[in-house]
Parts: sequence; structure tokens; C-alpha cells
Amino acid sequence: MRPEPQVLAPEPSAAGSATAVAHPNIALIKYWGKRDEHLVLPRVDSLSMTLNVFPTTTSVRLDPDAARDVVTLNGKPAEGEALRRVVHFLDVVRERAGQAHRAVVDSENTVPTGAGLASSASGFAALAVAAAAAYGLPLDATALSRLARRGSGSASRSVFGGFAVWHAGPASGTAQEADLRSYAEPLRVGDLDPALVIAVVDAGPKPVSSRAAMRRTVDTSPLYEPWAVSSKADLDEMRAALLAGDIETVGEIAERNALGMHATMLAARPAVRYLAPATLTALDRVLRLRQDGIPAYATMDAGPNVKVLCRRADADRVAEAVRDAVPDGSVHIAEPGPGARLLPGDGR
Ligand code: PMV
Repeated sequence: MRPEPQVLAPEPSAAGSATAVAHPNIALIKYWGKRDEHLVLPRVDSLSMTLNVFPTTTSVRLDPDAARDVVTLNGKPAEGEALRRVVHFLDVVRERAGQAHRAVVDSENTVPTGAGLASSASGFAALAVAAAAAYGLPLDATALSRLARRGSGSASRSVFGGFAVWHAGPASGTAQEADLRSYAEPLRVGDLDPALVIAVVDAGPKPVSSRAAMRRTVDTSPLYEPWAVSSKADLDEMRAALLAGDIETVGEIAERNALGMHATMLAARPAVRYLAPATLTALDRVLRLRQDGIPAYATMDAGPNVKVLCRRADADRVAEAVRDAVPDGSVHIAEPGPGARLLPGDGR
């Protein structure tokens, strides 16, 4: 599988308005822990697959007469932390563009928000692409990835379709250097026909934000450093397994990397526990599938939901196996999806 060509069309928009679409991604090697919260610089490299489900579509229109940004998320005015994050992100874009105009942002997100299904990844990738175009910033895909990172780290990877690696960047040197060298890029993989079966255990908001949970883990968990070190080795092995199209090895590495990340959180003080009883039931189903000879491997993010990596040809069987583990939830089958892109015109 080749990385798809990126058609981001980062043409400055004369009209000061643009609409972009982006998809969530699921990390097979996790991003967990920041070394710079302001610049959103991670402590570890990460690697993900962008999905073909749950897109976010976001339009940005500059309003020269407005005194403040107006943000609508899924038809409702954004407030509190959600509004603050979007305004902060627009401030970053405005500073780079040398413009002061406020914006009207309208975002439709089809992923259950805040459920550890990376709604912030698709959200900030779409916002980065639309805002850069609306403010006339002619950015290439790498620069858009860097920009999206400022909104949410995982968004840096959703700029690209298929598989992507996000480089942590140098641990020493100036902040400017670190900022420049922390971006995602598409990854070439071998002959894989992967699917991710998503078992939504609970679509409600998470009890602790990933930002707060990461901070607590890095600051207090005795398991954090050992995981970060082993994650480096996981990434090297993962690259080789992806290139070889070896789904069993890809899955084994992804599962151990995710369980290790959750172990770091469980050892934090106080513990951060996202895993729910239904999460463990789903993990049992995945184990049973493997005992039955189906290569299926689980990964979990900052929430109780389970994503199962398997062959596309096995996805229906895997979905069936996890469905009764989540009687109150839903099951979705995702495949590799496209990178973020501007919609023609201003998307309307
Ligand atoms: O969505 P963010 O940027 O706050 O980070 C969440 C990190 C995980 O989803 C738990 C792991 C990852 O690499 O996506």
C-alpha cells in the first residue's frame, strides 16, 4: 500500500472562508506524555492509521466586524474548554498570518465526542486545513501537520491518510527547532488489508481529559519512563512489520504498546483508569478469536472503547465476536481512510 498523494490545495482563499474535512486516526504506537504543553511536543514518536469513518467537516469564515470568535460544534455554540481550545488555536493561526480578524467556525463531528475515539484528531486536522486556507497561509502538508499539532497532538497524524508517523522532534535545542521538527509524515506499508473494528463501550465524555491524564502520568507514574523507552523499540519493530505486511506482528506490537500505556496510567498517583468492565470483556473476546486462529489484536486510547486490528476479510467475524461484549454500545468497521483536504469552493 502506498501513501496516497496529498491533495491539500493549500491555496490562500481570497474570500477568507474555507471548508475542510478530516478523519480520525487510531495510534498503533501511542502518543502519551508531552515534554512541552504549550507547543504540544510529545515525549515519544507515535504511529497511526487514519480511518475512513467518522469524518469532521469544519468551515472557517473571517468576520472583520466581529469582536470575538464564534464557534459552533455540532449545531450548538461551543463554550468552556472546547471554545477556549479553538480560540487559542485560531490565535496561533492569526499570529502566523499576521491578521487580527475574528472567525466564525462551524464544525460537524460524526464521531461520538470525547469518547476516546480521537474526535480531537479529526477536529483539529480539519480546523487547521480550513483556518490556514481562510487566513491565507499557504502551508504544505508538513506545515499543516505541525500546525494541527498545536490544537491536539494526535491531529498532526490525521492530516495524512493511511498510516502516518509523528516525530517527537529533538529533545534538546531551541523551542523553535523542536517545533519545526515535530510533525507527522505518511508511512509506506507492505501488502496489508487491515480493518479496525471499533467497539464503542461508552460514548459519553471521559472522566479525565487526555491532557490532564498525560500530565499526571508523566509526573507521577514510575512506569512511564520504562514504557517510553520500550515504545521506541516498538516503533522500530512496527515499521518493519508494516513494511513486511505482517499483520500478526503489527497487531502484537500494537496491543502490547497500548496495554503498556494503560499500565503507566494505572500506576499514576492517583491512578487514571479508563478501562471499564466491558473493555475487559471485549479483550477476552479478542483473545478467544486468536485462540480460534483469527489474527485480532486490541488497542485502547483515553477511554473505555476497544479497537480491534484484523484482516479486512475477518472484520465481520471480529465485529460479531465483540458485539455481545458491548450490549449497550455499538460496533463499527473501519478501514484506512484519506488525509485531510479542503472541499471545493468553500464547501457549501
Ligand atoms: O487526542 P490527544 O491529542 O489529546 O491525544 C490522545 C492520545 C491517545 O489517543 C491516547 C493516543 C494517540 O496516540 O492517539
